[in-house]
Amino acid sequence: MDVRKGSKDGRVKDGSTHGVLLLNSNGMDVVYGGNRITYKVIGGVLDLYLFAGSSPELVMEQYTELIGRPAPMPYWSFGFHQCRWGYKNVSDLEGVVANYAKAQIPLEVMWTDIDYMDAYKDFTLDPVNFPLDKMKTFVDTLHQNGQKYVLILDPGINVNQTYATFVRGLEDDIYIKINGVNYLGQVWPGPVYFPDFLNPSTQKFWGREIKLFRDLLPFDGIWLDMNELSNFITSPPNPSSSLDNPPYKINNSGVMQEINYRTVPATSLHFGNITEYDSHNLYGLLESKATNEVLKDISGIRPFILSRSTFVSSGKYTAHWTGDNAATWNDLAYSIPSILNFGIFGIPMVGADICGFSGNTTEELCRRWIQLGAFYPFARDHSDITSNRQELYLWDSVAASARKVLGLRYRLLPFLYTLMYEAHTKGTPIARPLFFSFPEDVTTYDISSQFLLGKGVLVSPVLKPGAITVDAYYPAGNWFDLFNFSKSVSAESGKYVTLDAPSDHINVHVGEGNILAMQGEALTTEATRNTAFHLVVVLSSSKTSYGQVYLDDGETLEMSGENEPWTLVSFYGALQKNSLFVASNVTNGRFALDQRWIIEKVTFLGIPKHKRVSYMNGRGSMKKMVVKTHSDDSSQFATIDVSELSLLIG
Ligand code: NOJ
Repeated sequence: MDVRKGSKDGRVKDGSTHGVLLLNSNGMDVVYGGNRITYKVIGGVLDLYLFAGSSPELVMEQYTELIGRPAPMPYWSFGFHQCRWGYKNVSDLEGVVANYAKAQIPLEVMWTDIDYMDAYKDFTLDPVNFPLDKMKTFVDTLHQNGQKYVLILDPGINVNQTYATFVRGLEDDIYIKINGVNYLGQVWPGPVYFPDFLNPSTQKFWGREIKLFRDLLPFDGIWLDMNELSNFITSPPNPSSSLDNPPYKINNSGVMQEINYRTVPATSLHFGNITEYDSHNLYGLLESKATNEVLKDISGIRPFILSRSTFVSSGKYTAHWTGDNAATWNDLAYSIPSILNFGIFGIPMVGADICGFSGNTTEELCRRWIQLGAFYPFARDHSDITSNRQELYLWDSVAASARKVLGLRYRLLPFLYTLMYEAHTKGTPIARPLFFSFPEDVTTYDISSQFLLGKGVLVSPVLKPGAITVDAYYPAGNWFDLFNFSKSVSAESGKYVTLDAPSDHINVHVGEGNILAMQGEALTTEATRNTAFHLVVVLSSSKTSYGQVYLDDGETLEMSGENEPWTLVSFYGALQKNSLFVASNVTNGRFALDQRWIIEKVTFLGIPKHKRVSYMNGRGSMKKMVVKTHSDDSSQFATIDVSELSLLIG
C-alpha cells in the first residue's frame, strides 16, 4: 500500500492511496525500491490487482472485498492470553492460573503447547503429566471462572500403526504423496505424514479427529503451528525434475537456501496432481480454512484459530501471531511494523509473543513489552522451553504495569470489539499506521514506532532500555492521556514531542473528534461486560465528535447480516455555544439494549479554558456536572453522572 506524495512541496493534498496485489502462490522475491516494486516469481498465474482509493480505508475495503473480509473473532479473544512451551503438568497450569488471580492481573485464556500431547501426537494427551481426568477438571474450572482454554495442533501425523489418527488417515488416504507413496517427513513426534488439505477427504478426516478430541476435552480454540510446512529434514532433490532445483534461486530463509530446505519437497503431489512447488504457500491457509469449518460445524459458535502460516485471505479464517521472535529490544520495536503489516494484509487479529519467545527476557524488557503488547489486537505472553519463565506476576514491577495497562485494555474492550466489527465489514485494520487517519501528513508515512487503534487512539511505547521519556509524533489536534484524561499534547500542525514515560507508564492518547465507549475494569471479559459504560467525548473545535459501539453476545457465528442479533450505536457529541450535548442513534438494533447496557458517566474532554458550560440531554433538561481544569491548565474537562441513561441517549 502506498499513499501518494503528490505535490512538489512534499505535502499531499488529497491523501489518495493505492494498493497492489500479485495473487500468486509460487516462490517469489519481492523487491521494493521506494518508487517501484519488482516481483520475481518462479511459476504460476500472474493475477495482478491494483486498488486505487481516495484514502487508505477505501483501498482496504476494495482489497478485502476481493480476498474476503476478516473473520469475526469472539469477544473473549480480546482478553489476555498466557502460553509457554514447557509447562510441565496440570498442576503447573493450575499454578499459573492461580498466580494470575492472586496478583489480580486479568487472565482470559490459558494455552498449552505440544507438552500436553502423548509423545507429541496430535489429538492425544500425555497420560502421566496431562491425564484426561485432570485436564478435564482444569478446563471445566477455567470455564466456571469465565476463562478459556486453547491448545496447539501440528500438521504432521506420527507414522505409527498403534496411533488411531494415523491409521484412519491411511484409510482415508489423505496424506501428501511423492513418487506414488506418502511423503515421509520428521517433526516433533519423529516420522510423520502430512495431511493434504487440497484433498476434499482431508476435511472429513480433520473434522472427525478434532471432534473426537473435543468431545473428550472441551477446548475453546485451536493454535495451528508449523504449517509452512515445517519439516526437520531436507529431502534430496529429484534429479529428473527441475522443480526441486529451479534455475532461479529465490532468497529462501533470507540466505538463498535450496527450495526444499526443511519443508516438503517441491515435487510432492497434492490431490489432483497439484505440485507442492505450486501450492506450498497455501498450506497454512487451507489448514486454517478446514479448521474454521470444523469448529463452526461442531460448536455452532464463532471459532478462534491462531495460525503461524498465512496467505492472502487467511484473515477470513484465522488470527495470526508473528512467530518466533526473540526477547530483545530490537524485536520489541520490530513487533509494531509486523502487526501493522498484517492488518494491511487483511489479518487484523494479530500480535507478537509478549516479553519475547526465545532467549531470556528481563524485568525491564518484559515490563515495556506488556505495556506495548496490551495494545496489540491479540495479546499473548509466550516463551520458549529453553528460556526462563516470564508470566507477568513474576516481577512486582511487571505485575504492577500489567494491572495498569491491561486495566486500560479491558476498559477499551467495547472499542476494540467495535474495531473488529469494522474490520469484518470493511476490512479496516484494528491497529493502524498513523497515515490511515492522517494521510495528508507526510511525516506519518515512515512512523513505525507508534500506531493507532482505530481512528484516534495513539499508542507511543518506550522501545529502548533505560529510557524514561519517549519522542513521539503527534499529528495535528489535541491529544488527551487516556489514563488520566489530562491534555498532553496540543499540536497545531503535526510535531514531535518528548513525553515522560516513567518505568510503569506507556503513553496512550485519544485525539480530538473521537468518542470512546468504555466499560469498567475486571479480571475477565465476561465480568467487564457486566459493568456500566463510560462515554469519553473528545471535543473538537472544527467538527462534531463521533464514535460507535457494536454489541452482540460475543460469539454468534455472524457479526453482521440484517437478521442477526447485533446492534450498532453511533454517538455524536459537541459543544454548541455553552451547551455540551451527546446524542446517539442505532443501526440494526436486534441485540436488545436492556438494563445491562447503561451509561453511567459521560466525560467531555477539551472544553476551552474558563468557558462556563452546561450539559443538555436530548429532552432539553440540564444535568449536574463537575467541571475540572486539566493539570496543565490549558483546558477543562467535565464529567457528568448520567446513570439513568441507557445507551440510547436522546
Ligand atoms: C514453533 C512455534 O513458533 C512456537 O511458538 C512453539 O512454542 C514451538 N513451535 C513448539 O510447539
